Amino acid sequence: MYSLIYASRCTNPLSSEEVELILNASRQNNDAMAITGVLFFNSTQFLQCLEGPRNTVENLYNKIIQDPRHHDVTTLTVREITTREFGGWSMGYFGLTSETKELFKEYSEDPDFDLFTLSSNQACQFTLSLTDLIPSVH
Ligand SMILES: Cc1cc2nc3c(=O)[nH]c(=O)nc-3n(C[C@H](O)[C@H](O)[C@H](O)COP(=O)(O)O)c2cc1C
Repeated sequence: MYSLIYASRCTNPLSSEEVELILNASRQNNDAMAITGVLFFNSTQFLQCLEGPRNTVENLYNKIIQDPRHHDVTTLTVREITTREFGGWSMGYFGLTSETKELFKEYSEDPDFDLFTLSSNQACQFTLSLTDLIPSVH
């Protein structure tokens, strides 16, 4: 089992309907591919964890990288895992909420802090701590 976390920048501002479109397609595809994970979107940047069989994760990541809805796709960490961290989510989603802002305080004073500055460990820790929260609508 393989886990990959990346950060990217949203190309144009996305409406909640557009985010919903990404999530609907993701959940349908991921279910069929045994991919689980989480997507965090702070209105300008994405942070996504993809977990599943290594080849499947790598193939999906290659497809996601080419999606024009985001750019500067940057891998923050890849690792072998024995147990899924997001096993219940074909793609859990979190937006900017009071709870996610509260989580940021462990990393930065600035609620708009740059997700690209997360270290590999911090990216793992941040995505894992999302599992204690109730996902945002979508
Ligand atoms: C930030 C972001 C995250 C995405 N995550 C996924 C994902 O987890 N799974 C997925 O299948 N597609 C994901 N996509 C969409 C893919 O880039 C692509 O549009 C989609 O897989 C095409 O699906 P289709 O072949 O069913 O039309 C994501 C796109 C963006 C911009």
